[in-house]
Amino acid sequence: MREELKLAWGVTGSGTFLFETYQIMLGIKQKYGVKVTTFVSEAGLEILRMYGLRDKIKKISPGLYYEELVSRETDGASGVFSGRFNLRKYKVFAVSPVTANSVAKMVNGVADTCVTNAFAQALKGKVPVIVLPVDSKLGETEITLPCIIKREKCLNCKECTALTNCPVEAIESTKEGPKINLLKCIGCEKCVSACPFQAVACWEKAKIETREVDVENVNKLRKMKGVVVVEEPTRLLTKINEILET
Ligand SMILES: Cc1cc2nc3c(=O)[nH]c(=O)nc-3n(C[C@H](O)[C@H](O)[C@H](O)COP(=O)(O)O)c2cc1C
Repeated sequence: MREELKLAWGVTGSGTFLFETYQIMLGIKQKYGVKVTTFVSEAGLEILRMYGLRDKIKKISPGLYYEELVSRETDGASGVFSGRFNLRKYKVFAVSPVTANSVAKMVNGVADTCVTNAFAQALKGKVPVIVLPVDSKLGETEITLPCIIKREKCLNCKECTALTNCPVEAIESTKEGPKINLLKCIGCEKCVSACPFQAVACWEKAKIETREVDVENVNKLRKMKGVVVVEEPTRLLTKINEILET
C-alpha cells in the first residue's frame, strides 16, 4: 500500500513572510490533500496569535494524527515528535518564516526549540529541508508590523472605542493614551474599524536594516548539506511543488 503524503512545516516568531507562508501552506494542503504537521516555536505561537492566524492554522493542522500543531507544550523539551524525522515519515520539512534567531541556532547545531530540533532531526533523517529566512540580504528589509496605535492620530478620547470593542481586553488605558498589549492581541482588527480617527493600524509595512551577522548565518545555512535556502515565498512554493510532484 502506498504511504500517504506527509509534510512537516516549521513556523518561527517572524511577522515577515507570515501571511505569505500561511497562504502557501493552505494552497499546498488543498492541492495535494497532504497531511501537514506544523512545528511552532514559542515565539511562533505568540506571533501567530498576534497576526490573527492562531485559529486559522487549525485549517492546516487540525490536530489529527500527523496533522498536529506541535509546540513546546506537546513536544516537551526533548522533542518527542521529532522521531518521525528519524523514521523519514515526511517527504519534506519546510521551515518558513525563519527568524534570524532560529537561523543562528540552525547553523550552530543548537536544537532547543520545537523548530530548531525538528530541523536537526530532519537532517539526521535525510528528510529534505527547505528554508525561507527573513534576513537573507544586506540592506533594507520590509517587515510587517502587528496592530499598533498611531500616536499622531490618537486623540486619547475619554471613552476609547478601540479599547471597548477589543474582544480580548488587549487594549489598556494608560496616562499616555491607549496601549496594545501584543501578548493578548489576537489580530482580529476590530479596533481598526472601531476607532473613528484611524488611530489603530494593523499590518503596516516598515523598513529595517539587515544585520551582517544574520546574512552571514544565512550564507552558512546555504552551505549545509540537505538544506535548500530560498529568498522569496514564490520560490518556496515552487520548490515544495517540485518535491511533492516527484
Ligand atoms: C511583532 C513581532 C514581529 C517579529 N518579527 C520578526 C521578524 O520578522 N524577524 C525576526 O528575525 N524576528 C522577529 N521577531 C522577533 C522574534 O520573535 C524573536 O527574536 C524570538 O526570540 C524568535 O524566536 P524563535 O526563533 O524561536 O521563533 C518579531 C517579534 C515581534 C514581537
